[in-house]
Amino acid sequence: MEFSIKQSSPEQQHSACVVLGVYQDGILSPAAQTFDHATARQLSKLIASGDLTGKAGSVLMLPTPNGAPAERVLLVGLGAPDELGAKQFLDVLRATFAALHKTPCKNAALYLTDLAVKERDTNWKISQIVMAGSDSIYRSDQLKSKPADKPLLKKLTLGCAKKPDSAAKTALLQAVATAHGVKLAKELGNLPGNICTPSYLAEQALALAEKYPLKATVLEEKDMEKLGMHSLLSVSRGSRQPAKLITLEYRGTNKKQKPVVLVGKGLTFDSGGISLKPGASMDEMKYDMCGAASVLGTLQAVAEMGLEMNVIGIIPSSENMPDGAACKPGDIVTSMAGLTIEILNTDAEGRLILCDALTYAARFEPDTVVDIATLTGACVIALGGVASGLFSNQQPLASELLEAGDYAGDRVWQLPLWDEYQPQLDSNFADLQNIGGREAGSITAACFLSRFTKDYRWAHLDIAGTAWKSGKDKGATGRPVPLLTQYLIRRTQAAAQ
Ligand code: BES
Ligand code: MN
Ligand code: ZN
Repeated sequence: MEFSIKQSSPEQQHSACVVLGVYQDGILSPAAQTFDHATARQLSKLIASGDLTGKAGSVLMLPTPNGAPAERVLLVGLGAPDELGAKQFLDVLRATFAALHKTPCKNAALYLTDLAVKERDTNWKISQIVMAGSDSIYRSDQLKSKPADKPLLKKLTLGCAKKPDSAAKTALLQAVATAHGVKLAKELGNLPGNICTPSYLAEQALALAEKYPLKATVLEEKDMEKLGMHSLLSVSRGSRQPAKLITLEYRGTNKKQKPVVLVGKGLTFDSGGISLKPGASMDEMKYDMCGAASVLGTLQAVAEMGLEMNVIGIIPSSENMPDGAACKPGDIVTSMAGLTIEILNTDAEGRLILCDALTYAARFEPDTVVDIATLTGACVIALGGVASGLFSNQQPLASELLEAGDYAGDRVWQLPLWDEYQPQLDSNFADLQNIGGREAGSITAACFLSRFTKDYRWAHLDIAGTAWKSGKDKGATGRPVPLLTQYLIRRTQAAAQ
């Protein structure tokens, strides 16, 4: 979908459909009022007749009213003006796109950017319109023999009363780049484990480096052996697919500026290994590489935006399979950091591949490291699909991520990393064990990672509940690409001040 923003008046707009907002009790938004005046008060008449109430999320599609060149008008209900907040605005957008997709409209002009939304600025509205529009046309049909019906809506104009300033234009471009990143993350996430293997992810990183100003490097198992990544390699032992350690570097500013390093769990299928998972919904463990997908999506977005900062993506990628050669409960391995790990459950494999990648991350002399992982089922129980779990060894970083997530509509919720939880990882035979018992499962997983991140500012995002949806709408969400890009954008803005 193509997006543009321009100063325009709805009653003059040539478009297949003009979208206007109407508040509760039939109160017209300013754009709808202008339109009403130009069309012999046809909207007011509809309101008087009771056809249009302005109830939040309601829609009414009308044919060409005399006096305006647009072919249709879509009136969307906004609810009460003082209740129009971020959530309501997003509901309005969803209803808008659902209604537009029911028509043969190839283009539409939305007059929603000027609506007052509580605690949100114009740039937020611009980016949310772009994200909702892109979301509404995504189809998971990569592997269907006949592609799903393509949405007809191709062009979207964001109409506004004042000439858009350069910040608004930047917001639009950044939102488009973020939407592309989300799409990439969804596509990779939805691919099955027989296609999306560690080698496939490595190829995708190399392909991104062809297309964007990114440098991709892929380490093979023998390279990881030399580096002493025996924790990571213990996970891939049972698999016929070789593990890969993928690095993507984006240098958007002075080489001396320390980079933000994003580390994404790239477990392309998690059967549990010898500690085999039960059968129900095991297919969903193809999504265990969504952390990696979000790193690829975010790096693509950052490169497309040309952000003036340095960002590095590191993806430890492996399968977790049972096999004669597979690692067994009780096995003890030595991590790259030198810490020995007793593997009591081979299904707690995410932390085993991440710990070596986190040790490796130190080579890039990071300013900040954020890892993203579908790490624990316990996080799904704690936070469901609404918020990702957030852990950090530095409170200002946690706060920045919380705020970026709130703004982007891709929220995180902080959980504690207190030392009181650490003893749950004590082992009788090794420096630590890879599980911490039933209690506080997401926290002890984060505690495990914290043993390997002592030398830098670090945050961990547990996206087990947010990276994909189950059930009828099964599919990857592309989260937390919006949060990560927003966090990075804010860092460049803070640096510019
Ligand atoms: N990839 C899973 C976590 C997961 C499970 C994400 C369900 C989303 C839905 C991870 O590798 C795992 O298996 N974790 C175990 C850890 C346990 C053995 C300590 C879990 O959460 O059950
Ligand atoms: Mn597992
Ligand atoms: Zn896993």
